Amino acid sequence: MKKEKIFAANWKMYLTPQQAVELTKQASAALSSLANKHGSTIILCPSFSSLVLIQPIITPTPLLLGAQNCSPLAPGAQTGEESVATLKELDCSHCIIGHSERRANGYDTNESVAQKAKALLTSNITPIVCIGETLAEFQSHKTKDVLKSQLAPLFSLASLETGKQQLYIAYEPVWAIGTGLIPEKNYLTEIFEWLTTLCSPYFATLSYKLLYGGSVKSTNVNELVSINQIDGFLIGSSSLDFQEFEKIVDYCY
Ligand code: PGA
Repeated sequence: MKKEKIFAANWKMYLTPQQAVELTKQASAALSSLANKHGSTIILCPSFSSLVLIQPIITPTPLLLGAQNCSPLAPGAQTGEESVATLKELDCSHCIIGHSERRANGYDTNESVAQKAKALLTSNITPIVCIGETLAEFQSHKTKDVLKSQLAPLFSLASLETGKQQLYIAYEPVWAIGTGLIPEKNYLTEIFEWLTTLCSPYFATLSYKLLYGGSVKSTNVNELVSINQIDGFLIGSSSLDFQEFEKIVDYCY
């Protein structure tokens, strides 16, 4: 039997609050029935300004709310930042951190991502930690070295007292994001098996899941879902088309 899957919709900076509300209203009934039917975890991650508007729409449904970033610091004098306490008050159950679009802009480093993960775990919000190599790193066979160094500061979190906490690691090759390209199945299988072996000893007391992200579509998800170690998907542009997003969720079962 196939295991329950996780689907996180990363709406990036594509939508205004009004557009995000419209999309949520259009999609929530069908996505909720898919979540109930398959027992899948479906997380909507709009931009900060939309969180407060989406929260009341999805509270009565099985859909979950996620943010796209957070500050690692306690509430205080941090202009332009959002605290974990704010995310908690808005009922965010998840938060994407370390997305390659933020790492590329210098907004996130391996160390800051670990600090953010720690702050989120302390508040029982599941971090969705993005990792992935660039095309040049992929072509020069440096993928595993890159992923290891991105994960290294995170492994020190294993010393945290953990209760019901969960952590997701989303492997997103930078060259697969928004390009329509996905890695070959053999390559992905190898990476996910390697990630499982690498992470298991460190996260023994923490429930962790491995996601894949980068050009996930209804036309390629059948192949991706056949890789055993993939627990779910982080989905960008396909999640902005709610019928395509529904197809992806449904095709996985
Ligand atoms: P994409 O984005 O599905 O549009 O490739 C994925 C992501 O950036 O999380």
